[in-house]
Amino acid sequence: VQDPRIAKIASSIRVIPDFPKPGIMFQDITTLLLDTEAFKDTIALFVERYKDKDISVVAGVEARGFIFGPPIALAIGAKFVPMRKPKKLPGKVISEEYSLEYGTDKIEMHVGAVEPGERAIIIDDLIATGGTLAAAIRLLERVGVKIVECACVIELPELKGKDKLGETPLFVLVSSA
Ligand code: PRP
Repeated sequence: VQDPRIAKIASSIRVIPDFPKPGIMFQDITTLLLDTEAFKDTIALFVERYKDKDISVVAGVEARGFIFGPPIALAIGAKFVPMRKPKKLPGKVISEEYSLEYGTDKIEMHVGAVEPGERAIIIDDLIATGGTLAAAIRLLERVGVKIVECACVIELPELKGKDKLGETPLFVLVSSA
């Protein structure tokens, strides 16, 4: 049986058709953030899952992984590591490229943010094609970090993003048709 908190979280997410372009049903988590109970429950569900798993790194993917990641990191006693779009981080970075429908993109992380052997979760609001999370996994694995799991609020299962994550498990709260 599904946790009773999930249905309320799901119904707090607003879907905006044709944003940012025609045919895309945009999953808008800003309405979840306005619902104090849904936001609290979202964080609580992740904290309950990860608190006793010896995790020292919560890596959050720009931009909305920066909203959900830090409260989880604080609650489980882990550090928060931002995985940013190119040219945003001021220090020395390592980066990982991934392909988009047209062209490529990149995510970056500060050198020295994590140590080999650390155990991490990677958090984002949504997994679509899985390209972003797959790049985040590769980036952290290159520096010797063990990815315990990827965690997202929303999954678009039709896009089969989970298949891009290889051996790394995926935990999602809400699946959206
Ligand atoms: C969205 C979403 C994920 C990514 C998922 O971010 O928040 O980070 O796309 O897509 P994928 O599974 O196909 O890789 P977006 O590209 O809109 O960037 P933003 O968060 O900076 O707005």
